[in-house]
This record gives sequence, C-alpha cells and structure tokens, in this order.
Amino acid sequence: MQGTAADATARRTLVVGNWKMHGDLQANRSLLQALVAAPRSAGCEIGVCVPFPYLAQARELLAGSAIALGAQDCSMHQQGAYTGEVSARMLREFDCRYVLVGHSERRALHGEADAMVAAKAERALDCGITPIVCVGETGAQREAGETDAVIGMQLDAVLNLLGSHASRMVLAYEPVWAIGSGRSASAAQAQQVHALIRSRAVHHGVDPRELTILYGGSVNPGNAGELFGQDAIDGGLVGGASLKAADFLAIVAAAPSRSPTA
Ligand code: PGA
Repeated sequence: MQGTAADATARRTLVVGNWKMHGDLQANRSLLQALVAAPRSAGCEIGVCVPFPYLAQARELLAGSAIALGAQDCSMHQQGAYTGEVSARMLREFDCRYVLVGHSERRALHGEADAMVAAKAERALDCGITPIVCVGETGAQREAGETDAVIGMQLDAVLNLLGSHASRMVLAYEPVWAIGSGRSASAAQAQQVHALIRSRAVHHGVDPRELTILYGGSVNPGNAGELFGQDAIDGGLVGGASLKAADFLAIVAAAPSRSPTA
C-alpha cells in the first residue's frame, strides 16, 4: 500500500451511475451534457462510471463540472503482460475519481474472487482513486439464509487488507437478485444489510461514521426516496436508470442531504 491514495473522507452522500457496456459517442454526449446542465443541490456528490474507451470523452465533457468520472473495473496488477487489462494508474491519468471493483457481473462472469477484489481496491487506493467495492448475495443465497455470511466474507476480504483505509473507500451493497431485475430490495432489506455492514466494519476497527455505503439494484425514481430515506444508506449505485438523464437526476434529487459525519 503506497502513500499516495486519496484523502480520507468522512461518510457522505453519493449517487453513482454504472453505465455497464452501454453507450456510444453521440448518446454519451447528450447524456453528459444534460447532467452537467441540470441544477442540483450541493449536498450530494455524483459520479458516472463509463466504459474504458469513453473515459477521454467523458473527462472532456465533465471538465469543470461537479460530476466525478469513474471506471467500472481495474486490474489487480500494477502493470505488465496482462493483455486486455487496464491499470489503476491509467485510470488516474484520465482523472478518474472512482472505480467499481467486485461488481457482481465481474464476480460471476469473470470469476473474480474476494481476494482479487481486495487487491483491485488496493491498486486503486495506491493511485489515489476511490474504489467502490461491491458486495451482495444471490437469490439462492438469500433463500438459504446465507446473506449475512456471504456479505461478511466479501467484506472481510477487503477490510482485512484495507480496513485502516476504509474512510477512503466506498462500499456498495448490491443484491445480485435485484440487479437489472426491476425488483429492488425493499427499504427494510437494504437497511438491514447496510446496518450489518456497518457493524461488521466496527470489528475491523473501522469507525462507521467514516463509511459511505451505497445501495444498488433496480434503483429508479419511484423507489429511490424510500431506499435513501433509510439511515444506514448513503446513496445509490444506479445501472439502467443512469442511462436516462431525467431518471438519474430524479434519483440524485432523492438522495439524502445529511451532514457529512452523521
Ligand atoms: P441496475 O444495476 O440499477 O440496472 O439494477 C445496478 C448495478 O449493477 O450497479
């Protein structure tokens, strides 16, 4: 762990769009121009995690705005013979403030294990990028009563390695069964897991007031208010609804505005 990582930040409100493998130059331009032009309250930070080839375009369109740029993955390696991989240092050159690590689609489709996710988060921190570490249980795991154990293991892998840097990371609880399904977790279900994450973090010596935890999984303008109204939820990681400016902005508008260390 090198000493160049992002400044420590306290718990805050944040809404991040995860574009996944969507977009083209023209659509990106319209979307980002609409986001930049929209008036917003100062209480909520916003980010967009775009596909790698569009980092340069998004960086240019977001220049001077308060919307942060992010990527959707980074390599667990610093550099070398890793064809197709993108390093955190490269992302830093494009002014990425955030990078998603351990998204469930990466875990499921690319075999990313907990240790790899933790290593990716460490590479991001090394380069001054805030990793957004995603955790979440599958539907089968929830039905089998394994939610707490699964989230606990995913979390422990990251916090065992990086617990002392927790204030410089963001966590995202994304139940796999809720992602892209149109069926979000209920506010009570999300609150319960967010509270679990906070109490688990305490066991790693992390002050929960320093922890920013987003909920993700079918967040839309209709359910954002209730989800974000839960006191353990600090904002959202938004997939499908982040591709439409009006929907994304409505979700941002529903984000809580609480004092940074509440
Ligand atoms: P969704 O995706 O909002 O489309 O469910 C969320 C995510 O996968 O980050």
